Amino acid sequence: MLAKTIFLIYFVAFVNGYEGLEERSLPSDSGLDVRGLIEHYGYPFENYTVQTEDGYILEIDRIPYGRNSSGNNTRPPVLLVPGYFCSSADWVNMGPEKSLGFILADKGYDVWLGNYRGTRWSRKHAWLNPDINRKAYWTYSFQQIGEYDLPAFIDHILTMTNQEKLFYIGHAQGTTSYFALTSTRTQYNDKIRLSINLSPIAYCSHMTSFLNLFAIFKIPIEIYLSLTQNYEFLRYQPYQGTIAEIFCQDGAVTQGLCVAGYYLLGGYSPDQINKTRLPVILTNTPAGTSNRQGQHYGQLILTKKFQKYDYGIVENLKIYGQPTPPQYDLSKITAPLGLYVGDRDIYAKKEDTDQTAAEVSNLAVYRYIKGFSHLDVIWGIDAPSVVFNDILEQMGQY
Ligand SMILES: *[C@@H]1O[C@H](CO)[C@@H](O)[C@H](O)[C@H]1NC(C)=O
Ligand SMILES: *[C@@H]1O[C@H](CO)[C@@H](O)[C@H](O)[C@H]1NC(C)=O
Ligand SMILES: *[C@@H]1O[C@H](CO)[C@@H](O)[C@H](O)[C@H]1NC(C)=O
Ligand SMILES: *[C@@H]1O[C@H](CO)[C@@H](O)[C@H](O)[C@H]1NC(C)=O
Repeated sequence: MLAKTIFLIYFVAFVNGYEGLEERSLPSDSGLDVRGLIEHYGYPFENYTVQTEDGYILEIDRIPYGRNSSGNNTRPPVLLVPGYFCSSADWVNMGPEKSLGFILADKGYDVWLGNYRGTRWSRKHAWLNPDINRKAYWTYSFQQIGEYDLPAFIDHILTMTNQEKLFYIGHAQGTTSYFALTSTRTQYNDKIRLSINLSPIAYCSHMTSFLNLFAIFKIPIEIYLSLTQNYEFLRYQPYQGTIAEIFCQDGAVTQGLCVAGYYLLGGYSPDQINKTRLPVILTNTPAGTSNRQGQHYGQLILTKKFQKYDYGIVENLKIYGQPTPPQYDLSKITAPLGLYVGDRDIYAKKEDTDQTAAEVSNLAVYRYIKGFSHLDVIWGIDAPSVVFNDILEQMGQY
């Protein structure tokens, strides 16, 4: 695997160099954060904080209406939740007509962008300090995000808009936490008109991604974490945008390395990546999260089950009242559900998403998209025509 990785980096760096270097240039929206991007393109920006039942203070950003329009409470609300170490910026970082957040706002939706616990805008808590009470703050995974963060987002939005239901759109871990919520706190199914799950991850039996490292190095990682107390993963750094601008912009000799990293993280798909956007993407991503998330995925890879976090027999008995963690029962997800997965996704593999599709109770749509990687489903050059148009059509039916 290491040899393959090194080969891929060299190969991509070589091909990129071979194409010849253009002039160095940056897109005009490089360096902007979520608010900056939304306002730069002439959309209204609002933000709110909510507190979860377990004390985390979270930020929700909102694009209440699109360009040339005005807000009113008849616009259907849609909640967008991003993937592992991602934040609200990832739904607007391709600009208007190309980002799902902007497209939904222009099509008449009231767009809410959730930032789950521990990420850049939600690195807060009512009584824990993330830098001091590290273990207590950072030991969460998509399990707690599903059980606590999503209900806090959903209830806030429904109260603010005076609506009974909303649309849910998640990417990757944003789907895992959705499955965790709606299969356990099942009353939340009644608050969902339709959920759209992009690069959906429940079963991880066939995954071949960097998350497999959490399975392969399970014990060393556990030892490392207990020794260093370094439970935070890929924390947002204010200088990461500047570094990305220098090394990843068009015309930089090092851009090939950035592209190789992108493929390693998301899957190889040269037709869908817009290299010019790399500095904008990397200005806001990574946004930080907990190592526990990766450890939890590592457990799913090893056990081939979709289940809650395994604390070991003694703790499991205390927490769950049984020696092994309870499995998530996908048949309890009764709200209509859509699955969109690319055939080059290295996280959501077809065998695994087929199993999810077979087990949920109300499958509305299941698309398997040719030539798309894990990230192309939200950022790909053809995502608007191939994925987003179809999503809008599905949403129009609910
Ligand atoms: C949201 O509002 C708070 C308080 O005004 C502010 O500190 C924060 O930076 C805002 N978030 C963004 C993304 O601008
Ligand atoms: C908004 O209005 C401007 C000027 O009339 C127009 O050029 C633009 O296409 C409109 N945008 C949308 C999303 O309708
Ligand atoms: C509210 O917004 C929707 C979506 O843009 C629009 O279709 C509707 O006409 C608006 N209603 C009012 C009362 O302005
Ligand atoms: C790639 O991004 C640049 C900068 O935002 C944009 O001008 C260009 O149209 C994009 N290319 C494609 C194929 O979408």
